[in-house]
Amino acid sequence: MGVIMPWLETVFSSRERTRYTMDGAGLFVPAPLPDLRRALEAAELKAGELFWDLGSGDGRVVFLAAEMGAHARGIEADESLFRQATDIQKSVCPATSAATEFTRGDFLDCSFEEPDVIFYYGGGAPRRQHELYTKLERDMHPGTRLIVFRTSRRPPLNLRSHLNSHPPEYHILVG
Ligand SMILES: C[S@@+](CC[C@H](N)C(=O)[O-])C[C@H]1O[C@@H](n2cnc3c(N)ncnc32)[C@H](O)[C@@H]1O
Repeated sequence: MGVIMPWLETVFSSRERTRYTMDGAGLFVPAPLPDLRRALEAAELKAGELFWDLGSGDGRVVFLAAEMGAHARGIEADESLFRQATDIQKSVCPATSAATEFTRGDFLDCSFEEPDVIFYYGGGAPRRQHELYTKLERDMHPGTRLIVFRTSRRPPLNLRSHLNSHPPEYHILVG
């Protein structure tokens, strides 16, 4: 496994608390960086690819993807988590900052035609999850990899194939 930049360990190791989000978006459950890195590597994330995290929390996955050379975007409903991520974005080196983008909002308002790799560590109400999966099936272009993180069951999506899945850590589906 590739190395995790020391600044990521420093910034995110002190933020390991699960908590309810303020805006009714559910739970924020921070995952350890090595687990996240394994999932991104299994999805064969490459430098220059466009990476999206649906529900980006404190931004850890977005910064990790940027350090792996991706252009990384996070979409987060909760205002305090969004601010946490954008505060960190201001304090990192200019190249990493330029490779990251955060949007505050509901990822269900997005279409998913652009990204090459999509990360989802969601949970959420079954109805909302069904809506997300329907949109992903409709929008993902051939070759887009979807990482569904920390789930033992294969997500019920009608996509082309599987890649390096490792339940219960992650499932990777290909558009
Ligand atoms: C389990 S946490 C994962 C955070 C981050 N992806 C990570 O792995 O560290 C789920 C996040 O999704 C956010 N969320 C849930 N539903 C959302 C929605 N519809 N739109 C945007 N964010 C959402 C929550 O606020 C929470 O921060």
